[in-house]
Order: sequence, then structure tokens, then C-alpha cells
Amino acid sequence: MSSTTQPGLADRFALYRDPHPVRVATFAEDVRAGLGTSPLSLSPKYFYDDLGSALFEAITRLPEYYLTRVERDLLATYGREIAGALDGPVELVELGSGSAVKTRLLIDAILERQPRLTFHPIDISAEAVTESSLALVGAYERLRVVAYAGDYFPLLREKRLTTRDRALALFLGSNIGNFEPDDARELLTLLASALRPGDGVLIGYDLKKDPSILELAYDDPTGVTAAFNKNLLGRMNRELGADFDLGAFRFRARWDEARGAILSYLVADVAQRVHIPLAGLTVDFAAGDAIHTESSYKFSRDEIVALAQRCGYAERTTYSDTAGRYALSLLTVV
Ligand code: SAH
Ligand code: AVI
Repeated sequence: MSSTTQPGLADRFALYRDPHPVRVATFAEDVRAGLGTSPLSLSPKYFYDDLGSALFEAITRLPEYYLTRVERDLLATYGREIAGALDGPVELVELGSGSAVKTRLLIDAILERQPRLTFHPIDISAEAVTESSLALVGAYERLRVVAYAGDYFPLLREKRLTTRDRALALFLGSNIGNFEPDDARELLTLLASALRPGDGVLIGYDLKKDPSILELAYDDPTGVTAAFNKNLLGRMNRELGADFDLGAFRFRARWDEARGAILSYLVADVAQRVHIPLAGLTVDFAAGDAIHTESSYKFSRDEIVALAQRCGYAERTTYSDTAGRYALSLLTVV
């Protein structure tokens, strides 16, 4: 019998929770702010409760939602090159890691080059980050996971992310597209200041294309994306005691040429009064009133490179598929 002992699963997994765990109160405050005044809006970060994370995983399997598949193919093709692009052993960070299924392609490539790896997934969904972390430490003996359940804005602002080796931070899945331009700038700037010069950021984004392809990707005929959006109403019913009738709202997703984004809405079919007791709010909807639920910005490579440069990065390499649907840009902190 060997005398060396491998660290057990529990030794290779740590979970840090948001130190502001007033989740319901925060949700209630944001709902009061978003539905208490016009234009009506809700933050897409609230999509991701347990059911919402599962519905997002279902979206990634839809034939119309090509983003996940194309990004996975790019990581399968270029993962080794990306893993070897930074000097020294690396530590991996991921913002909005979700199920972290695609991340495995990079973990595989990095573990071909170094004996051990520390991975820091950050996700607002405690369920998704816990489940994916446990699956990863179970699958990789040489991996340690230091996970964070919470919103990445306060985590980065309060400098609670600490890395020791050369860091490679992943921001995949076109997550950057869900931020309004000022917020995208703030997030990338905060991330640069949490890293060191020479550290890398791999950012995945959806490229601008024929609007009909985009509208189909965001309003699929199976209705999964509509259910993903309506889950926001369901979540207010479950967590805030609201009485939304999910059948009285329809989902709409349209390309907005001026903004360069798909804008998603839940639209009241008929006039109705809704009570949201734990947000201290009663909302009178007129027929046609629309709640903005998400923006999904689309980019050109030049737009991402210009944004990155403003936030303290230089472009190292950009990879995209031959059809020009999706891109991964490897940036380094200047
Ligand atoms: N990276 C995965 C998941 C994308 S879905 C992929 O490419 O498939 C977006 C993920 O970001 C979800 O898991 C969601 O819970 C998380 N998320 C959204 N807003 C967040 C925020 N403000 N802070 C932390 N995580 C967030
Ligand atoms: C997570 N995020 C980048 C997705 C997107 O494409 O905007 C969420 C999503 N919304 C509808 N379909 C997928």
C-alpha cells in the first residue's frame, strides 16, 4: 500500500458565500426599484434560482441557441493554445461559471501542462456553483476548487478574490453581453484591478449577425426562453409572496439595431393588478405594459478590443469560428 495519501474531496473544496446574505431583502429591494417606476425592469441576475439555472441549461441544448455549442467547439480546438499562452503555472478564475461544463476543456488542457490547478468559480447561484464544484473535484484529483457564491460586483469591489499564481480569468457564454455598456466597463475594470499585469482574461462573446438568426436564438419555438423569463414572475410569487398570473404575460425578444442588442421583455396581455407583499408594492399593469428583463448585446471583435483597451487590457489573440458567429478574445492585463 502506498504511504502517500491524496487529499480527500473535502480538502479540495471550499465555498465562500456572499457576506451579505440578505438575499430575499436584496431581491425585494431590486424588485421595488425595478417595478415601482417606469420604465419597468428587472435585473437578469435574478433569472438564476434553482429552476432558472436548469432552464438556462435547457436553453444551451436548443438547436436555435448556437452560442454554447460554438464556444465549446472553439475551446476544444484552441484550449491547449490558450492554456499555454501565459507564462508559468496558472490559476483559473471564472465569472458566472454556471455548470462549468465547457470549463473542463480548459482544465484538461492546463492539467496537461502542470501537476495541480486551483479553480475559483464565482456564481450568484449557490446551487449551480456548489453542484458544479463538487462534480469537478470528484472528476479531477489534481484540482482544488475555491468557490464563491454571490454577485461578482461586490466580490471584486471588495477585493475578496485572491490568486497566488499567474491567473487566467474566464468570462464565457457571452455573459458580458448582459451588461449595459457602463456596467460592462465597470466590471472589466474591476476585474483588471483584481488581477496582476500579465494575467489573462478570456472573454467569450456573440458576434453581430443577421437579426433573424438572433431573434430565433432568443425566442425559440419550443418556448424554453419564454419559460426562463417567466420564471422571474414565478420567483417573485415563490419568494416575495406575489400573485403574478404567468399566463397573463407574453414574452418578447427583439433585435434593437441602435443598441446592438436583443432586448427581452415580459408584456402584460391585459390590464391587471399584481401584489408583491414582501417588496411592499402593488403594480397596476395596463395591457401592453412591458417589463425589460434582459439585454443581450452583440459585438464585433473591434468593439471588444476597444472596450478591453479602455479597461486596462491588451488583446493577445482572438479566435472565432469560420462562420463568424462567435469569438473568444484572450486579453492580458497591462
Ligand atoms: N458560463 C456558463 C453559464 C452562463 S449563464 C456558460 O457559459 O454556459 C450566466 C451565469 O452567470 C449563471 O450561472 C448566473 O447564475 C451567473 N450570474 C449572472 N449574473 C451574475 C452576477 N451578477 N454575479 C455572479 N454570477 C452571475
Ligand atoms: C447568460 N447570457 C449570456 C444569456 C444570453 O445569451 O444573453 C442568457 C440568455 N437569455 C436568453 N437566452 C439565453
